[in-house]
Amino acid sequence: MRNSLLGILVSAALAAGTASVFAAGNITGSPHDLSGKGWGTTELCKFCHTPHLAQSVVGAPLWNHRSTAQSYTLYSSATFQGAATQPGPQSKLCLSCHDGTVANDSFANGGVLQTGTHYMTSTNLVGASGTLTSDHPIAFTYNGALATADGHLNTPVSSSYVDAAHQLPLYNNPSPGVASSLECATCHSVHDNTYGKFLRMNNAGSAMCRTCHTQ
Ligand code: HEC
Ligand code: HEC
Ligand code: HEC
Ligand code: HEC
Repeated sequence: MRNSLLGILVSAALAAGTASVFAAGNITGSPHDLSGKGWGTTELCKFCHTPHLAQSVVGAPLWNHRSTAQSYTLYSSATFQGAATQPGPQSKLCLSCHDGTVANDSFANGGVLQTGTHYMTSTNLVGASGTLTSDHPIAFTYNGALATADGHLNTPVSSSYVDAAHQLPLYNNPSPGVASSLECATCHSVHDNTYGKFLRMNNAGSAMCRTCHTQ
């Protein structure tokens, strides 16, 4: 019984093809797998990271992509109490492809930055023309004081995570110095598309929103 169940699972996985076998949990076959594009490398990580000769983006993990020089108009509203700053390194990395000012294939070979020609498609532009006013606020401290001021937020369990299960991380943004900061990568896992749209967790029933918001 167990063997035949295993057989069914294995043949189902094979029938679904290699990409879906690896789709859960890592970058292979996801929209961030640019290795098959013919953009100058068949490596997966190289579009974004390098083990040596990394670009100096303070606080960024061994970054190998041309950085956006955009300065952004930030989110504001009558009820937003966070003190939003310019995006931190974790968000600038995303915006270095997603704001449309730098080509996806502007990465470095041996420390020498190439100038690419393939830009973000319009549906996936975020922060285009330097505008973050129509996007969920980022780059501000989310802590107990903000939760109290807002009245409809859970208090993060620590300065590094919102929730006890450690699904949603908060970041230390070294420049201009924002602790416990909500960044793009708080909601998105750039390497893992298990839940679609690179979300950190399943958002069915707005479960991800409600990990922070108590509405
Ligand atoms: C499309 C760009 C992109 C690609 C491709 C990519 N990364 Fe990343 N990586 C990022 C970004 C952005 C961050 C910072 C955000 C974060 O911490 O999740 C990051 C963070 C990391 C970190 C530090 C945080 C952590 O999760 O431990 C490691 C290690 C890492 N990447 C390894 C890899 C490896 C290995 C590959 C190739 C298999 C890879 N990455 C491919 C964009 C990318
Ligand atoms: C990681 C935690 C987190 C997640 C996940 C999250 N939010 Fe937020 N959101 C916040 C915080 C913190 C604020 C700032 C609240 C404030 O100061 O008014 C905020 C602000 C907002 C605002 C603006 C509030 C205002 O007063 O202008 C809206 C609307 C909102 N979030 C909706 C959502 C929705 C919808 C989702 C799910 C798609 C979501 N949020 C996911 C933490 C989160
Ligand atoms: C090297 C460039 C690059 C970087 C860096 C990058 N992305 Fe992407 N991203 C892409 C490309 C290319 C696509 C495919 C869609 C397209 O071409 O318009 C994509 C697609 C996406 C999608 C849509 C996925 C889907 O299922 O439709 C999301 C969400 C996303 N990226 C979020 C992020 C976030 C968040 C970060 C930073 C943590 C990030 N990306 C960093 C290049 C990048
Ligand atoms: C508070 C959580 C949250 C933050 C912060 C956040 N996103 Fe998203 N993002 C989402 C959710 C949820 C979706 C899926 C929306 C849907 O499917 O309707 C999404 C969708 C996307 C998409 C796909 C296109 C679209 O609009 O559906 C891209 C690209 C993207 N995000 C990039 C980013 C980038 C870049 C940042 C930082 C500048 C960022 N996100 C910050 C929650 C967030």
